[in-house]
Amino acid sequence: MESPSPSPLAHALVAGTTGEWAITSIRPVVGASLPRAPRLQFLQGQAPMQQNPVWVLHGVTSNVRYMTEHEQHAVARVQAGLGRPEATCAALIPIRKSPEWWALAQDQRREIMQEQSRHFSIGMEYLPAIARRLIHCRDHGGEFDFLTWFEYAPEHEDAFEHLVGRLRETHEWSYVDREVDVRLSR
Ligand code: HEM
Repeated sequence: MESPSPSPLAHALVAGTTGEWAITSIRPVVGASLPRAPRLQFLQGQAPMQQNPVWVLHGVTSNVRYMTEHEQHAVARVQAGLGRPEATCAALIPIRKSPEWWALAQDQRREIMQEQSRHFSIGMEYLPAIARRLIHCRDHGGEFDFLTWFEYAPEHEDAFEHLVGRLRETHEWSYVDREVDVRLSR
């Protein structure tokens, strides 16, 4: 996983007729889907310029919420950055969690994510093949709480399917009340 920059970086994911990424599929996992569009622009720190986009999702990178210092070092040692030339596949998975999740205290959420669901440990098994960016949008009034973005080479597609399959079976995912799985290539 790529560490978020220390200061929040605004992101806009713009679906429409232009952009570096071709959208290959859009599949609702839980709740309503997103409208179909042919291409996507992944913008960091730039304002969207596209006329009449089909949809735009906004968010910012943020500080770490749950990882311990030890976990942060472990991730930092192995993670890969975005934009590797061989990483021609991507997944955009916007996620919203339920009011029950947000009513929990920080330590209870950490307990569910890592001690019960092993989210960080499972994820670590797929680094550095899968590069990741976590974009927060709960406090920005959007439709989702998080926009998760992943980049990988075609030979790691099966590994990525395995990873999302394992995470979706966890107790943490019982709190996910909307999830859309968008796949892309460039
Ligand atoms: C590539 C391997 C992965 C690693 C190493 C990883 C690791 C992590 C870590 C460490 C956090 C917590 C960050 C913090 O402390 O604030 C996190 C949060 C999150 N991850 Fe993963 N993850 C991976 C894959 C995935 C996948 C495939 C999905 C979606 C299907 C996903 C969805 C999320 C979401 C939605 C959050 C925010 C949860 C919340 O704050 O409630 N992750 N991930």
